[in-house]
Amino acid sequence: MQAPETRQHPCHAELLKANLNPGSQQPAFYIHLCRNCPAIFYSWTLDFDFFNSLTPIQKRALRLLKPLNVLFEKLNWHVEVVPRPANEDMITLEQRINLFHLENETLVHKVEGDLAEFGCHHGKSSLMIRKILDAHGPDKQFHVFDRFHSGQADVSFRNVFEENFRAAGLELPVIHPGLFENTVPSELPGKLSFVHIDCTTNPHDPALKERIMHLLEHIYPRMSPQAIGLVMDYRDPEKTVGGSDSFPGVKDACDDFFRDRQEQMYVLYGNQFPHAYFRKQA
Ligand SMILES: C[S@@+](CC[C@H](N)C(=O)[O-])C[C@H]1O[C@@H](n2cnc3c(N)ncnc32)[C@H](O)[C@@H]1O
Repeated sequence: MQAPETRQHPCHAELLKANLNPGSQQPAFYIHLCRNCPAIFYSWTLDFDFFNSLTPIQKRALRLLKPLNVLFEKLNWHVEVVPRPANEDMITLEQRINLFHLENETLVHKVEGDLAEFGCHHGKSSLMIRKILDAHGPDKQFHVFDRFHSGQADVSFRNVFEENFRAAGLELPVIHPGLFENTVPSELPGKLSFVHIDCTTNPHDPALKERIMHLLEHIYPRMSPQAIGLVMDYRDPEKTVGGSDSFPGVKDACDDFFRDRQEQMYVLYGNQFPHAYFRKQA
């Protein structure tokens, strides 16, 4: 008999595919393999960068993807070859995988509280959070916090965010527009089970460390035991493999915050964008 969480799993590949840009002509491919077994659900990606220099072959290979994937399906292999996500995505394929496993874990283990994202932009990561939530914890609320304008031009992108949710046929989260400095802590849910902190904008932004500190100071006390905080752009030069080092303020803030606490940051592979998480202790 399958464990309940396995029985409920939507195919990981399906979740990822739903969030990839189908028109993307990126010069690289990923192969991801998914296997559902009673106890563990796992997957990995391979990035074939050698396609970079082979544009005509790559174009032909793109046309082969469909029959190839049909063949894999007929063979009942949980393997799918998909184009790499578009560069404009602010969350990489590897980070989507991290997000899937960590959020899913809090839902399967019934960690108390709601979910929240701090920095949602057009909603690429929010769409995934919502989709995973719909599959495993529909009675929980999902909150997003963002000022919804770029800072340079006073143009709101809240409508783009909402349109993306409508196009995906997903329920909108509870939206908290405005600066975190104004909405946090006053609009925070009472209890949190999973948070995604993704609020970097300009490289070497001098206010970044203070912003992350502000969020952690207010979010942390509301996190239930075993709740997970996933932090975008946390890069440890000694542990992180690859990844941009444009936002050192993220690590500075997290390291200062957790210096005298029981929790620690665990780095994850995120490809071009680094990623890390912490798990709230009792
Ligand atoms: C990197 S983007 C988020 C990307 C998003 N998670 C995704 O996957 O597409 C960072 C977001 O943080 C928001 N942000 C940065 N500083 C903020 C602040 N002080 N208050 C509210 N939102 C802020 C920006 O408006 C921007 O949408």
